[in-house]
Amino acid sequence: MEQNATFSNTKARASKTLIPSLSEDWPLLPVVRAEGVYIYTANGRRYMDFTSGIAVTTVGHGHPHVLAAARKQMEKFSHSAVGITLHEPLLRLTEALPEVMPIGMNMFFFGSSGSEAVEGALKLARYVTGRPGIVAFEGSFHGRTYGAASVTSVKSKYRNHYEPFVPSVYFAPYAYPYRCPLGENDDTVVAWSIAGLQKVFELFIPPSEVAAILVEPVQGEGGYVVLPAEFLRSLRRICDEHDILLIFDEIQTGFGRTGEMFAAQVFDVRPDIMTIAKGIASGFPLSATVASRELMSQWLPGSHGTTFGGNPIACAAALATLNVIREEKLLENCRKMGACLLEGLRVLQDKYHIIGDVRGLGLMVGMEFIVPGQGKTPNPEAATAVLENSLERGLLGYMAGLHGQVVRLMPSLNVTRAQVDEALTILEDSLVVYSS
Ligand SMILES: Cc1ncc(COP(=O)(O)O)c(C=O)c1O
Repeated sequence: MEQNATFSNTKARASKTLIPSLSEDWPLLPVVRAEGVYIYTANGRRYMDFTSGIAVTTVGHGHPHVLAAARKQMEKFSHSAVGITLHEPLLRLTEALPEVMPIGMNMFFFGSSGSEAVEGALKLARYVTGRPGIVAFEGSFHGRTYGAASVTSVKSKYRNHYEPFVPSVYFAPYAYPYRCPLGENDDTVVAWSIAGLQKVFELFIPPSEVAAILVEPVQGEGGYVVLPAEFLRSLRRICDEHDILLIFDEIQTGFGRTGEMFAAQVFDVRPDIMTIAKGIASGFPLSATVASRELMSQWLPGSHGTTFGGNPIACAAALATLNVIREEKLLENCRKMGACLLEGLRVLQDKYHIIGDVRGLGLMVGMEFIVPGQGKTPNPEAATAVLENSLERGLLGYMAGLHGQVVRLMPSLNVTRAQVDEALTILEDSLVVYSS
């Protein structure tokens, strides 16, 4: 009762001042404190946060080393526009990142949000190639600013009423094994999606006019879809053949989430440009467009810039995050805990036929719900109910997918075995309640 009163009071206040897109989202928990994998709400309840603020709090909420680094920097200065000034946290970060990034990713433009990094990547690609075309993929999510929304196609809701978009953007089918119309076998999925891309070249824009192909190595909003590695390898070959730049949007997959620092390393495919954000500073806003020195050097002075990008507190937090990932061996933990989570969900999939697919890479794990007896008909109602039931039992997950039919789980990389087991128990209880 008391919980409901607190929640509805916060929601009522939000509905007066926040746009409906925010105030009518789910579940609007009134958080007052967070620590590790837990968040605490105004009425004193504790939830296991298996969203990490949408894959942001890489090393957990309020990691003492990250907080200490941020505090120390804040005592010195908290803003200093890059260009007018330069500062040590930023320079140290640009020197540390190439050690963990895919080979050759060694020059940076820093922003504050993921969308901003995507804008940078699109501008850079057009600027250096002199070509207009961008090919992105169906089911993609790259952000909400105009350029980023122009290359987004996960839901028409994200595009409706915003036309016209940035021109010369084309969409090809993503390699989504579970929903490939020809079958789930890797070779079939890759052949089908690459044929779709070739069709774009034949029907809409020749490859000689394409500046970049932009891809999420694992689709995030699209439903935690893990593509076959061969798809990325094929994109690399096509880009090399036609001098097209390959952009990996690693905003959600980056900073250890997939079990390596970046998904490019899991799939062993080299991008030309990367976008990174979210988990980079474990909760502080920071993003970057990244490419090789050779490419970036062609982006001449004055052609791009920022006021807030490369904030010193966020840079200090990012450096601390990198250290924590290394010192606490979090990539290893991510792979182990991701495997436990996947295994546990596969056991649930065998028991509950509303779960059509379970998939993931590292701690980016999704469960796709279907209507039993109706092929692969998406079942957003089941996904929502399981999320609601889990929340009542103290587990916060989030939805994804075109229809909201996917439950996605992305706890911080230092989640423990006991916490994963507890989450699996809660999910099973929630499935039992829904199925009864
Ligand atoms: C893959 C991907 N790209 C871009 C973005 C946009 O990032 P932001 O919301 O920080 O602008 C997101 C956010 O969810 C994302 O998942």
